[in-house]
Amino acid sequence: MDRIRIRGGRPLSGEIAISGAKNAALPLMAAGLLTEERLILANVPRLEDIRTMTTLLAQHGLEVAPLDPERRRLAIGGLIRNTEAPYDIMRKMRASILVLGPLLARAGEARVSLPGGCAIGTRPVDLHLKGLEQMGAEIRLEGGYIAARVAGRLRGASIVFPSVSVGATENLLMAASLADGVTELSNAAREPEIEDLARCLNAMGARIGGIGTGHLTIEGVARLSGAEHSIMPDRIEAGTYACAAAVTGGEIVLRNARPDHLGAVVRTLGCSGVDVSETPEGMRVARRNALAGADVMTEPYPGFPTDLQAQFMAVMAVAEGASMITETIFENRFMHVPELNRMGARINVHGSSAIVRGVPELSGAPVMASDLRASVSLIVAGLAAHGETTVNRVYHLDRGYDRIEQKLAACGADIERIPG
Ligand code: EPZ
Repeated sequence: MDRIRIRGGRPLSGEIAISGAKNAALPLMAAGLLTEERLILANVPRLEDIRTMTTLLAQHGLEVAPLDPERRRLAIGGLIRNTEAPYDIMRKMRASILVLGPLLARAGEARVSLPGGCAIGTRPVDLHLKGLEQMGAEIRLEGGYIAARVAGRLRGASIVFPSVSVGATENLLMAASLADGVTELSNAAREPEIEDLARCLNAMGARIGGIGTGHLTIEGVARLSGAEHSIMPDRIEAGTYACAAAVTGGEIVLRNARPDHLGAVVRTLGCSGVDVSETPEGMRVARRNALAGADVMTEPYPGFPTDLQAQFMAVMAVAEGASMITETIFENRFMHVPELNRMGARINVHGSSAIVRGVPELSGAPVMASDLRASVSLIVAGLAAHGETTVNRVYHLDRGYDRIEQKLAACGADIERIPG
């Protein structure tokens, strides 16, 4: 297994190009199941999860073809020949559950492995299933699989989510696009990735209203056509590199980043003494003074994103004073804490909150990656730490970060991948 070695203490300076958003690309690729015509996606990031979704769609019978040598544009289309999503793909990537709604809408049936939990939590899919049942699907759980079918078309329904779910909103948005009648999704997730998906679906002929709000109205249509859509930039990647600049006391430009997608993060970094400004090419992040501790509570968008909690904690580990970081979305998203403490951080977890007492300096150490965002928080910490940090099991990183060591090295970081 590859490892990444960092010798910390060097302020970052330069420019990083932000890639297309992983969490927009995955549902957008699943939307390719909604039409037999070609859906062309541009600004596709080079990630392991994209390769996994490509494999999943191909085994459903679709053709997923790169339209350029860089594989930044993908053409997805064709007939559905298999309505089963197998466990061996689902266990690699939980987002595979996003084929459930489209398969039911297009083929009237689906047999999708239950995703199971992952490092950060049990990750149930009950909200997905309850919504599809309200739209007329018959759903049985058997042998670790979801067996779903509908006689004829799904029908429009008025669905109120008891709690906000990004994936359930996406699955039901796609299913409702081809349903018979009007569907209302209330208390829907408002993440920018959902807005990106809705705009692509409308370009395919869907009739979605309320985009960007927590109340979506979908007037089902009989069929959807192909379209061409450019994937939004990855706000979590941008926020991650903003944390890297903050923790090293550097100044970087994040090309293509959208500060309007990171309002809560920009405000919180500002409270910590980090200057974030909009520029014609994207976003500039600079830290010239001492870091100050700031409190954070993760919330559904537009609140502080859970996917940046670990990275921000690495910044607070070397801030002056204390900060309290509360994780409200997932029940087990503090796996980075023991590893950061091995680097000299002073972090105590009390239930869903972590108290971080800033220290003057972290010290490099061999550390273990556990999930995608915990792994990258160790990279962020290693960039600031005195000495050498080696992050093991970096396959977690490759799922969600496009060439991270190259992007950081180009900004002056002493970082390299050691093939294992
Ligand atoms: C998406 O996961 C993202 N993944 C996650 O990013 C992100 O952390 C999460 O949204 C929250 O923003 C993708 O977009 C591929 P949820 P998702 O459904 O859809 C509970 C990353 O690092 N819940 O909004 O699975 C659930 O357990 C990944 O890129 C139910 O109880 O998240 C969680 O506590 C990690 N029942 C909360 O809701 C359900 O049916 C939010 O989950 C569904 C979810």
